Amino acid sequence: MIICKTREEIAKAIADVRKEHKTLGFIPTMGALHKGHISLVSKSINENDCTAVSIFVNPTQFNNKNDLLTYPRTVDADLALLEQTGADIAFVPTVEAMYPEGLENITESYDFGAIGAVMEGAARPGHFNGVGIVVHRLFELVPADRAYFGMKDFQQIAIIREMVRQRNIDIEIIPCPIVREEDGLALSSRNTRLNDEQRKQAVQISQTLFKAVDLVQSSSVAEVKEFVENTVNSVPLLEVEYFEIVNGFTMQSISSWDEAEWVVGCITVNVGDVRLIDNIAFKNI
Ligand code: PAJ
Repeated sequence: MIICKTREEIAKAIADVRKEHKTLGFIPTMGALHKGHISLVSKSINENDCTAVSIFVNPTQFNNKNDLLTYPRTVDADLALLEQTGADIAFVPTVEAMYPEGLENITESYDFGAIGAVMEGAARPGHFNGVGIVVHRLFELVPADRAYFGMKDFQQIAIIREMVRQRNIDIEIIPCPIVREEDGLALSSRNTRLNDEQRKQAVQISQTLFKAVDLVQSSSVAEVKEFVENTVNSVPLLEVEYFEIVNGFTMQSISSWDEAEWVVGCITVNVGDVRLIDNIAFKNI
């Protein structure tokens, strides 16, 4: 596996791939890699001649300083895992390499309209702008044929699709299923920050979403929403930040099940100072 740290190194690695007319898959990550990330890497390895993975904890997408400071960083273990999985290129840039103009002097910005104004967009001001900026820059440095994103960050995929549309980028966006622990908790780099008791109680997030799916036939959207909010909030260490039942294409809340063909329930829960997100499809396309 080739490890690239600078713009020059990644440019050279990509040029070599292109020279050989190989197809290229790309997985942008913030590291602290787990089986969720690795499922994206494995899918790319299956579908492309060459697979590149970036590891970059992107400061511009953190609206909360403490979240950025406490974000787990395990680069050596990440690189070993990528090598073992069979990735071809790891891109591990510094903040200076990604933002040579300095964080204070970034000029581009995004307006994602209604899809970016709700849920994570409303709860984390500036977050999706930062995601758009970094993924656009990464796509310029790693102009892949396909890029792989996890459906755990459901709204993020809609944002990336919109960014790619706005900037006319010719990269196919491939959504990948959520990988869960055996008890149902969605894998997340932030899970390592939960203590034993928090971890035990966090299982109620996914378990409640699974139960909610069984209620769809017999209950209204409002009733399912109330069930999820009340059930999760009744667990002592869990506090729902939001739970929205949305049209999977537009991210806008719906009020009846027949309002959209694709219906997804998106939840964010605070467990102490750890913020966990998850989602479940109530109606699939
Ligand atoms: P990060 O949280 O590291 O996630 C990288 C990719 O892994 C994302 O596409 C995410 O949805 C996916 N992923 C995380 N947990 C997963 C799980 N349990 N199952 C399936 N996929 C999972 O998302 C980001 O980084 C950043 O916002 C990034 C896109 C890299 C831009 O900085």
